[in-house]
Formats: sequence, structure tokens, C-alpha cells
Amino acid sequence: MILPIYVYGQPVLREIAKPVDLEMEGLDQLIADMEETMKNADGVGIAAPQVGRSLRILIVSGADLSEDYPELRNFRRVMINPEVIEKSEETAEYSEGCLSVPDINCNVIRPKRITVRYINQNRETVTESFDGFGCRMVEHELDHLDGHMFVDRVSQIRRKLIGGKLRKLETRNFRPRYKIK
Ligand code: NI
Repeated sequence: MILPIYVYGQPVLREIAKPVDLEMEGLDQLIADMEETMKNADGVGIAAPQVGRSLRILIVSGADLSEDYPELRNFRRVMINPEVIEKSEETAEYSEGCLSVPDINCNVIRPKRITVRYINQNRETVTESFDGFGCRMVEHELDHLDGHMFVDRVSQIRRKLIGGKLRKLETRNFRPRYKIK
């Protein structure tokens, strides 16, 4: 089921999301709905707070990026209760966008590599390291679980430049391409 995407200004996007109880009823359905919602909006990642659920779940999927990043053609991860256990000092800069911040793209600097421990869809605990744009996708979604958004992490000048656009999002003074809340 396609769910409405919560847009900039919604308080749930600023909450620290709660750990998921693996026995939670409807967990697999929620994951399926999140993925369907993400794909419907042409997104490459989504976190549960973006569909209004304050839970530590994220999905990334690189298939749509394979023209620019061929290595991501089969890149898809579902992460439940992910924890960053290592991050590199070295940083990388990429342009980011977000389904909750439509029509805004900004360069963001983040650690180049991270290692994450998470529970996958089969309820297995996985420890995995990420690099390149796949790493960036995971980092962006991890931020959502702690109430952060990529626009918080851009330079002050850039932030000023997008201020007007952000206010339009907050006041819903824009035309969304997908169902929003
Ligand atoms: Ni996002």
C-alpha cells in the first residue's frame, strides 16, 4: 500500500525514532509498504519516520541509480535497528535529495565509509561496511532515525539560499508529485 510521505515541517521527522520490537505486529507489511511508497515516488531510500512511524527502520535501493553508479544495480538493504559501529575520518561530498524535502538538492559532506550493524528482513544480525554512494544512501537514511535531515548539514550560505523553498515546503505551498502529509 502506498503511504503518504511526511514532508518537512512534520514533527515526526524530528523525533528520535524508537527501536523496533521484532515481534511487532505488521512489521513485514510496514517494510513492504515503505518500499512501495519509496518506489512510487521514485526514491532510492526511505526511513520509517517519513511515513509517519517513529521506528528505526530504513530501506535503500540503488537500482534506479545504476546509470550513474553501475555498482548499485543490485544494491538493496532493509535495516532494522541499525547502529553505526565505525565511521571513517575521511569524508566525501555528494549531492543529496529527500522525499521529505521535495525539489531541493544540496551537496553534503559526510564520512566516506561506515560500518553498520543491523537486523535484516530475515531477522539476521548483519555487520557490513559501506563505501561510495551506497554508503551515502545509508548515511542519509540513518540520519532520519535520529531526527536529522540533510538540509541541516549544508553550509550556512546554502541554507540561506534554500530558506525560502523550505518555508514553502513547511507551509505546503508547493505541488507534490506524490501523496504527502
Ligand atoms: Ni531523506
